[in-house]
Amino acid sequence: MTGTTSPSGAAEKVWPTVAVLGAGAMGSQIAGVIALSGRDVVLADTSDEALQRALATLDSRWESSVAKGRMTAQAKQDAYSRIRTTTDPVSGCVRADLVIEAIVEKLDVKRSTFEAVGAAVAPATVLATNSSSFVPSQIADVVPDPSRFLGLHFFNPALVMKCVEIISGPQTDPQLLETAVRFVEEIGKEPVVLRKEINGFIANRILGAVRDEAIRLLEGGYASVTDIDRACRTALGYPMGPFELMDLTGIDIGYLTKTARYEASGDPADAPSRTVAAKVAAGHLGRKTGRGFYLYDEQGTRLGEAPADDAPSTRSEGDRSHG
Ligand SMILES: NC(=O)c1ccc[n+]([C@@H]2O[C@H](COP(=O)([O-])OP(=O)(O)OC[C@H]3O[C@@H](n4cnc5c(N)ncnc54)[C@H](O)[C@@H]3O)[C@@H](O)[C@H]2O)c1
Repeated sequence: MTGTTSPSGAAEKVWPTVAVLGAGAMGSQIAGVIALSGRDVVLADTSDEALQRALATLDSRWESSVAKGRMTAQAKQDAYSRIRTTTDPVSGCVRADLVIEAIVEKLDVKRSTFEAVGAAVAPATVLATNSSSFVPSQIADVVPDPSRFLGLHFFNPALVMKCVEIISGPQTDPQLLETAVRFVEEIGKEPVVLRKEINGFIANRILGAVRDEAIRLLEGGYASVTDIDRACRTALGYPMGPFELMDLTGIDIGYLTKTARYEASGDPADAPSRTVAAKVAAGHLGRKTGRGFYLYDEQGTRLGEAPADDAPSTRSEGDRSHG
């Protein structure tokens, strides 16, 4: 179960059977990554429609990899045949060595799911959450053995993005972290360990700091949206500038993340900026609404910088003027 050597001498996989709870944007692709690594996967979702959509998405993505010569038809078929689906998350976990939860980002739903799963699985089963905002200690007290609980935070799209953050809770067994590092390496990803809980983990905190500085420069009148993005791309080698990225991911998503972080910490440095709050209040959320920091036409082609939005009348960020 933890990567030992079999009597035949062949190295066994770490956690050969994995249950993935939630077949949405993240769970479907996490299941795909794990199936590609040669492991058996049970993909569970309360919605049969979500399961069917997940299988269809994996099928079409892998089909296009086969067409481009990046994958053999046999590898596709093998990976596909390793994924079993169920609409009963608890029974789906019973035989798993590892359970990765990627369900809706609601703490009460995650806690009740882990309470039921924790009571049903074997004591050695490892339980992990893919949550972007909840740390292990917010959930682990509902399972019988919190030392077997950790965060495994994949990035979107999980089939492509290399990094997986391994998040240690205060009670997580240090040896479990080492095994998790081996597991992440075996599924072809790059593990990074967050040794102590902090909201936002590593990569998203750094991304947030860059975005905050970009907004500070914009609000101070030091440079335009276009030039700040251009500096990040051409001087720092970023594939996309911070404003381009916010428009792509949705300005409201970053706003909600910062609001949650501010509510948790009470630190004004964590609060959403005036600029972002104004865009959210105006409904200018980026590419999906045709206007964010840039303007887009119906086909999604960028037309140029959008004008600044008026500050909302009620501001959730207190008196801050940037960040
Ligand atoms: N979307 C991202 O960019 C991203 C990136 C990293 C981590 N995450 C995290 O991954 C998790 C899932 O996010 P997502 O974007 O895939 O969400 P999503 O809304 O696309 O999918 C969630 C799925 O969970 C299912 N579900 C809800 N309650 C369930 C239950 N009790 N049991 C089983 N299935 C249930 C829903 O039917 C849905 O299919 C969240 O915790 C989020 O923080 C998201």
